[in-house]
Amino acid sequence: MSINILAIESSCDDTSAAVISDSFLRSNIISSQKIHEAYGGVVPELASRAHQQNIIPVVHEALKQAAIDKKELSAVAFTRGPGSLLVGTSFAKGFSRALDIPLIDVNHLQAHILAHFIQTKGEDHTPPKFPFLCLLVSGGNSQIILVKSHRDMEVIGQTIDDAAGEAFDKCAKVMGLPYPGGPVIDRLAKEGNPKAFAFSKPHIPGYNYSFSGLKTSFLYLLRDCLKENPNFIEENKNDLCASLQCTIIEILMDKLRKAVKELKIKDVAVAGGVSANSALRAAFEEHAKKYGWTIHIPKFAYTTDNAAMVAMSGYFKYLDSDFCDISLPPFSRVVV
Ligand code: KG4
Repeated sequence: MSINILAIESSCDDTSAAVISDSFLRSNIISSQKIHEAYGGVVPELASRAHQQNIIPVVHEALKQAAIDKKELSAVAFTRGPGSLLVGTSFAKGFSRALDIPLIDVNHLQAHILAHFIQTKGEDHTPPKFPFLCLLVSGGNSQIILVKSHRDMEVIGQTIDDAAGEAFDKCAKVMGLPYPGGPVIDRLAKEGNPKAFAFSKPHIPGYNYSFSGLKTSFLYLLRDCLKENPNFIEENKNDLCASLQCTIIEILMDKLRKAVKELKIKDVAVAGGVSANSALRAAFEEHAKKYGWTIHIPKFAYTTDNAAMVAMSGYFKYLDSDFCDISLPPFSRVVV
């Protein structure tokens, strides 16, 4: 009999449901919440209300596209954390109880990494080999993770303040660009000179990151230049975006290169929302050529939040019979 898993993702501003059958993805429905654009960031209470409205139609569509009846489901997987997760967690618990099938809790960050194992039927896909390194870069996290197996992952470096995505989003906000700023900066940077402005880079030991100094030096530059020229941002938008993006990527890649060299692991993956960035993807390609890395770059659909990656993680946990109790609470903070 097939192993069919329904997965629910609701940790931030996307309500998503996916179905996986015997390791092959059959559907992945994502409803993105536009309401937050007006506020320049995600408003948790509004996200919760939108999840509540979206979750039933999204799950319904995921089952329909997968051509699976809910009675054929083997388990329900859900993102347990980090994030604000009450809607997805409560829905998954109710669904598993009603169908009398196991419940599987999934760590959102591990799911981003395991997105590299997603495959659809007939697709030619080579997943990373263990152990590999993963640069996990999203709106809330910037980490280097040593991935030893599907279940054994060690965070060897992480940001001590802002995340890379946060640096994109906050700097975009002060330039008056819409939220989320990452994709907009990515687009404008294509027309700009990455060496036009120099921003400060952190000097912290080990594999940790810091982006708050860069953010401050960006703000100081704008403050000083706006005094001289009130149209400074408008006239230099592309160069500002290109220089900022280039610095963020240099910071990310410097530490990743150090980890690859010291740990002697050349299988390197990137995951999370910022992995959609075209210059970061190009930097990975360059490193593959220059240093002989075997790189793993996710499909765009699996970079931002999606339930397909939760389904993949749920599938591995199902094989391990790693189920959770209905009393398990969601968690909001980072734990890998
Ligand atoms: O993983 P994700 O979807 O959500 C969470 O953090 O939960 O990541 C969202 C982040 C945002 O900061 C967004 O600006 C960034 O990913 N992002 C990008 C790009 N696309 C999304 N950053 C840079 N370039 C992009 N193309």
